[in-house]
Amino acid sequence: MRELAGRAFRELKIAASPILRIHLSDIEGISSVQVESRLEPGAVVALIAKLIGAREVFEFGTYKGATTMLIAQNCPECRIVTIDLPEGTSYETARATARVEMTDAYLFDTGARGQFISGEAANRITQIRQDSGAFDEGPYLGRFDLVYVDASHSYSAVKSDTQKALRMLRPGGIIMWDDYDYPGVWQYLNELARERPHFELRYVSDWGKVILLGDRVRLRPIT
Ligand SMILES: C[S@@+](CC[C@H](N)C(=O)[O-])C[C@H]1O[C@@H](n2cnc3c(N)ncnc32)[C@H](O)[C@@H]1O
Repeated sequence: MRELAGRAFRELKIAASPILRIHLSDIEGISSVQVESRLEPGAVVALIAKLIGAREVFEFGTYKGATTMLIAQNCPECRIVTIDLPEGTSYETARATARVEMTDAYLFDTGARGQFISGEAANRITQIRQDSGAFDEGPYLGRFDLVYVDASHSYSAVKSDTQKALRMLRPGGIIMWDDYDYPGVWQYLNELARERPHFELRYVSDWGKVILLGDRVRLRPIT
């Protein structure tokens, strides 16, 4: 009963969102793109990177490096820059020192950040170890085909990371955000959609992610 009520509430919430809902299959050409594993939550980012032939990708929030590696392995021409906190940073330290609010304490005691990054693909991956709130995006302006925002999910972090993402994006590039359902992500992205109505933002509901379509991702015409 509680589960049903939760689902109904979620549906109502999504229906009230200013961001239109789509399914991944609504993206033109996506069915012809395969990646090695669709099991990882970030596989859809690799699918989109492959679809657009991305050469330069930036990721906020490396964690173990699962999505970073999927992109690198499936897009052999692609270079990826990924940022996470310095190794060994505890949740308490991050909360006390980061310029943005922290979420997800459970991600702070799982061992080495970037531990999946290895092999040939690692040569195309640059790891930055710094609070994304203090990160200077200046050297990267206008460079990336795709930016994935998936570090702290607080309102202040998503806002700060997104503003940096927009500056680092090449004209017509794509941004993807994880976990639209999270309160901080939800609040900031809805605000962004209202402030910038010309942005083509879509909620890819089967993957829980929002995408700024950019100029290389098209939706299938409605038949
Ligand atoms: C959800 S995980 C990222 C998952 C990864 N993108 C993937 O797809 O496998 C979030 C990561 O963001 C990092 N993070 C949280 N706050 C951060 C901050 N202020 N600066 C940089 N990284 C941060 C955490 O340490 C954690 O590893």
